[in-house]
Amino acid sequence: MNAQGPYAAVDIIGIKRDGGRLSADHIAWTVAAYTRGDIAEEQMAALNMAILLNGMDRAEISQWTAAMVASGETLDFSGLRNSAGAPMPTTDKHSTGGVGDKITLPLAPLVAVFGAAVPQLSGRGLGHTGGTLDKLEAIPGWRADVTHEAMLRQLGEVGAVVCAAGGNLAPADKKLYALRDVTGTVESIPLIASSIMSKKIAEGTGALVLDVKVGSGAFMKTVERARELAQTMVALGQDAGVNTVALLTDMSTPLGLTAGNAIEVEESVEVLAGGGPPDVVELTVTLAQEMLDAAGIRGADPAAALRDGRAMDVWRRMIAAQGGDPDAPLPVARESDVIYAPADGVLVGLDAMAVGVAAWRLGAGRARKEDIVQAGAGVRMHAKPGALVRAGEPLMTLLSDTPEKFAGAREVLADAVTIAPEGSRPANQLIIERIA
Ligand code: URA
Repeated sequence: MNAQGPYAAVDIIGIKRDGGRLSADHIAWTVAAYTRGDIAEEQMAALNMAILLNGMDRAEISQWTAAMVASGETLDFSGLRNSAGAPMPTTDKHSTGGVGDKITLPLAPLVAVFGAAVPQLSGRGLGHTGGTLDKLEAIPGWRADVTHEAMLRQLGEVGAVVCAAGGNLAPADKKLYALRDVTGTVESIPLIASSIMSKKIAEGTGALVLDVKVGSGAFMKTVERARELAQTMVALGQDAGVNTVALLTDMSTPLGLTAGNAIEVEESVEVLAGGGPPDVVELTVTLAQEMLDAAGIRGADPAAALRDGRAMDVWRRMIAAQGGDPDAPLPVARESDVIYAPADGVLVGLDAMAVGVAAWRLGAGRARKEDIVQAGAGVRMHAKPGALVRAGEPLMTLLSDTPEKFAGAREVLADAVTIAPEGSRPANQLIIERIA
């Protein structure tokens, strides 16, 4: 017993350091005491490192997640009704983050077409993957901050809302994540899984589809690590009563033909208009079907709702409900610079990480939380893996308001492109595996 409670943090660290397992009481106390400020940062850093090295079993991860959920408020959508007074099941999607990943934009309105409520609490980007809110903020007038009451009203009336997560969902995670970031402990699968799932469970969704990205542009570089993360998160969802499934999807190359903010909105609107790049359409339709199945909505045809304009109608209402003008012209970068194909052949590789870092260097992303992003900046791709290209043909257009940024983007893209002799094929398929 010490002044702050029944345990001493140093004893808990010792159990994990020596490969032992923590009890539910150890975990509940540790997470609550850390959130209150009763465990020192260096002690939590040591415990995180012990967890990274020695792992946690399923019960420990579940209890760790539950303790993070209990550290803040939880939302409850169970009483949600549509305009006709009928109950609405909630269903949500989380992507572990990738380059050109604008899927939330067409997906949320598409799923809402079929009577589900889609409360998509999203974040801003940091580093080479863009943030959904940064993309939507390229739309003139659109606001990410929505009160809880406005969110409920919009879900009932429109069916979908994409907005900033309130400050008090899983505050333990916010503190822990900042600590992990500077202590080399982000990479632990138990800590990643509990971090992601605590926020989703606190958000109160009934069903959840996880898009776990694999490849150079993703957090998880190998299928084995991605599978382990997906299995851990699906188990956590099930333990918390959230109907959860996961897809492993390719992130060795960017999604679609754009990586940036306004240009990704433009591409999403193309998808909502029944066009758009085939990979973005395929992933949007597949995830929509999974979200609807997980919510118990049968007989939906998401591809038809993209073709016939129903998803576009919901998009327009969703944007307008948050102050955005769906008809306003999107910001355009002041300057551009074209990269040409160096040889004839088949484009077999276009590295996601390089394109993500290039878009970020061009001004589409931020290095520090307080940086301001350029709405028009990014990379527009003119060919994707599988395409036949000719030497001297445009491969990518770099976009920025600040032309001095082009050199840094070109530098990172220097080895991003692989061209092979005609007849070659790219190695990767988009949807790799389903885990339920
Ligand atoms: N995203 C999160 O929310 N948490 C992690 O730990 C890693 C990625």
